[in-house]
Amino acid sequence: MKKERAQWSGRVGFILAAAGSAVGLGNIWKFPGKAYEGGGGAFLLMYLLIIPLIGMPAMLSELAIGRASQSNVVDAFGRLGRKGYSWAGWTGWIGAFIITSYYSHVGGWVLRYVFSYAVEPGLVYADPLGYFYRMLGYDAASEETFFPLTAIVFAALFMTICAVVIIKGVEKGIEKFNRIGMPALFFLLLVLLVRSVTLPGASEGLKYMLSLDMSKVSGQTFLIALSQGFYSLSLGMAIMVTYGSYLTKGEDMVRNTVLVCVMDTLVAFIAGFIVIPAVFATLGEGSVGKGGGFAFVSLAGVFSRMPAGALFGMLFYLLLLFAALTSTVSLIEGIAAFLIERTGASRTFVTVAICVIMFAIGCLYTCSQASVDIRGVWFDLKNGLTRPLLCDGMEYLTDRIMIPLAALGCCLFAGWAWKPENVTAEVELCGKPFRLAKAYGFLIRFVVPAAIIVIFCVSLFTGTTLS
Ligand code: PHE
Repeated sequence: MKKERAQWSGRVGFILAAAGSAVGLGNIWKFPGKAYEGGGGAFLLMYLLIIPLIGMPAMLSELAIGRASQSNVVDAFGRLGRKGYSWAGWTGWIGAFIITSYYSHVGGWVLRYVFSYAVEPGLVYADPLGYFYRMLGYDAASEETFFPLTAIVFAALFMTICAVVIIKGVEKGIEKFNRIGMPALFFLLLVLLVRSVTLPGASEGLKYMLSLDMSKVSGQTFLIALSQGFYSLSLGMAIMVTYGSYLTKGEDMVRNTVLVCVMDTLVAFIAGFIVIPAVFATLGEGSVGKGGGFAFVSLAGVFSRMPAGALFGMLFYLLLLFAALTSTVSLIEGIAAFLIERTGASRTFVTVAICVIMFAIGCLYTCSQASVDIRGVWFDLKNGLTRPLLCDGMEYLTDRIMIPLAALGCCLFAGWAWKPENVTAEVELCGKPFRLAKAYGFLIRFVVPAAIIVIFCVSLFTGTTLS
């Protein structure tokens, strides 16, 4: 007997879950640094064009593919009559598997830092880099490496929380979790925003974020904004197809897409207005950075110079924790849904099995950060064959290849194989006309694929990191 397919309880449940997926570490620690490098206001403006013109049509397509096929990401294309596109589903599925392996470990470090700021902020402040490395199994003073037990225990804890949510299912697990997590995240965001912009000296940073310095804008910054947009909206990773498949036919997908994209962009912008003014006010303009080193190490300088800094530091990592949890949950659901449907195995069994495997792969990622020299393989046309650290190699693979490729597959499918008319018909099942259908058709056929192909070629040919 076939079980009824799971569904969201309603619009709010879906929107919070999809926004929970989109709002992640990318918004809070990657976006501010990129906005700073891209010239502040000029980058924000560019991003504001990219999201509606490229992000929204791509997201709408993924949701429509999911809802029309009522299927997991791998089988969705076949169900809609084009089995030949399953490669896009596979790419997204495998990509999600790799991302979850490391994203969940980074989530574990974030969890560790919530405790660090609650219990021992003095130790973090005294030697921010040393503290970070010690968590990862490297003692800089004695130059000794050891097993990164702390990082791994916290990653296991993080993964366990996600697994419990997934095992509870779509409505009782994912939806409920996001109904608490997302409002909490918005609340923390506002508290931190007020703290940051009222710091003495914060106005310089605010001015920078609002200035339109076009001289910093180049083709490269445009591409950085573009790939950030894809990553930030969780596109190309099995997620929006899977989450779309739990939507009822009466849902207005256009409105939902707009709301999710607006929420995601809003959070990224607010994060920019938290991080940049705070760094300007405490460490000074030149200290803005991006990536893990910045989020875990440099920010300690910000909190140590801020009144009640340890408290706000803890709240900041708590914010990151919520963001990371809801994104990881979405990644695992995309992976699990396929296995559950294909194998008929139980949700609990599938979830536990994949979480254990991904956690184990993630251990290699964490170990390769500082304590063990594990290498991956990488190839681009500029540098040829190289052996980056495994942790970097994993990120290159997903950010430069898997995400663009799977997103490209989805938009080529929607634009050229399944055709925009079918997307429109699916969208209009809610009873409202799709007024922008023509514009959508044009964007999904030409503009979105062109943008993705450019991102792909630039990283392949020049070996440039866009993430
Ligand atoms: N969108 C998430 C972020 O901004 C990351 C993510 C990417 C989550 C792909 C799921 C899938 O951090």
